[in-house]
Amino acid sequence: MFHKHIQPFPDNFLWGSASAAYQIEGAWNQDGKGPSVWDVYTKKEGTTYKNTNGDVAVDHYNHLEEDVNLMVEMGLKAYRFSISWSRIFPTGKGSVNEAGLAFYDRLINLLIENQIEPIITVYHWDLPQALMDEYGGWESRDIIDDFNDYCISLFNRYGDRVKYWVTLNEQNVFIGLGYRSGIHPPGVKDLKRMYQANHIANLANAKAIQSFRKIVKNGHIGPSFAHGPVYPIDSHPANILAAENAEEMNNHWYMDVYAWGEYPKATMNYLKREGLAPVIEEGDLALLKEGKPDFMGVNYYQTATVASNPLDGVGEGKMNTSGKKGTSEESGIPGLFKSVKNPHLETTNWDWVIDPVGLRTSMRRINNRYQLPILISENGLGEFDKLEHGDKVNDDYRIDYINQHVLQIQQAISDGVEIIGYCTWSFTDLLSWLNGYQKRYGFVYVDRDEDGPKELRRIKKKSYHWYSKVISTNGENLHRKDGE
Ligand code: BG6
Repeated sequence: MFHKHIQPFPDNFLWGSASAAYQIEGAWNQDGKGPSVWDVYTKKEGTTYKNTNGDVAVDHYNHLEEDVNLMVEMGLKAYRFSISWSRIFPTGKGSVNEAGLAFYDRLINLLIENQIEPIITVYHWDLPQALMDEYGGWESRDIIDDFNDYCISLFNRYGDRVKYWVTLNEQNVFIGLGYRSGIHPPGVKDLKRMYQANHIANLANAKAIQSFRKIVKNGHIGPSFAHGPVYPIDSHPANILAAENAEEMNNHWYMDVYAWGEYPKATMNYLKREGLAPVIEEGDLALLKEGKPDFMGVNYYQTATVASNPLDGVGEGKMNTSGKKGTSEESGIPGLFKSVKNPHLETTNWDWVIDPVGLRTSMRRINNRYQLPILISENGLGEFDKLEHGDKVNDDYRIDYINQHVLQIQQAISDGVEIIGYCTWSFTDLLSWLNGYQKRYGFVYVDRDEDGPKELRRIKKKSYHWYSKVISTNGENLHRKDGE
């Protein structure tokens, strides 16, 4: 759709940026924090790039004021961060660690004093190790109540000040990488267990939303889903059908449950035939229906292009975690679809396709199907950055990437999609789970690498100044080509 007139960003648009506790905080055992599954998993030889871990990360825990000052100076309107569950409940449940709660109080108060809207993510993958040891984490229904109790503590403590809440970050990613490819904790490759853990995560999500309604009045809550709209490689009917398969299995399988409390039929039937369907107990579907979110959080990085894949076709392939372009392997689900290269799109050095228009497509599809407002809770470019003489980081490629994506958001707004805000990934550089510190996302360079934390100096990149201008002009200063 071409617009004769493009709409301006709404005045209250949340120009934001995001992070996650394990990736920035460090202080992994400071002030009573208990270990999370990531604290344990990353210590196993060979699980991450050059055996990097978040023990220190970028030490945000001990640089809180400095980091918030940088946000204030930039003019940020919203900051999305996650809370480390095992900082609040060191063993996942039982007695609360007041020092943990107090840390996030300080952060939230500082943000609010400076007119930055806090957006809390309750769960960004750092499950308390104690719950993994006791009952296998997301594989046990026991987690539903423990997660709910943890959420209730946060709602009670911060609900008077924090309006925007994200429940689970990228359930599709932490469940998929944890139980399909086995490259995130708990490092399992078992589809039956994967679908069961996923169902339990859905129940936990719904129950937490139910509790939220009772405690936080006038608040907004929703999950953050890693949405990759699917394209067929061409108009061959077999490839169109493969794209339908992928769209349903990769996207609707999660978002239909969030929005409607229903699993899509074709995928459910397929899983039943394969003996992989989750066990649904009495009362589960009623609970799922109670968990309707106020918005759909969307983490958008890339689209997927697929083709037909026969029953004896390609299965799970390896991801590129080294930054050596072209090293990711073909991947698919035999009998359903396989991912193929899109000849129209460039990729990053980690083989992630760069597709700004795909973000508009994502917004349109979600809005049409679920009629929910959208919070773009992550989008950004992970690349090698170079610290140059005079403390300069000339990340024009990041400026270009974000600029193009933001223009597509404006197109989607002009199409009629309600978009609450846009959080870039990420504010400072951080630990990229499997890719170490060389894959950088931030507006603020942190002078550390895989060999050690050095002095953890914060250095503003060129993109920092650019985004600051985007915010102060409410998007008026974006670089536009004719017709944009
Ligand atoms: C999202 C996660 O999947 O993508 C973030 O929510 C993550 O935590 C980001 O860092 C980028 O992924 P990666 O693997 O490049 O760090």
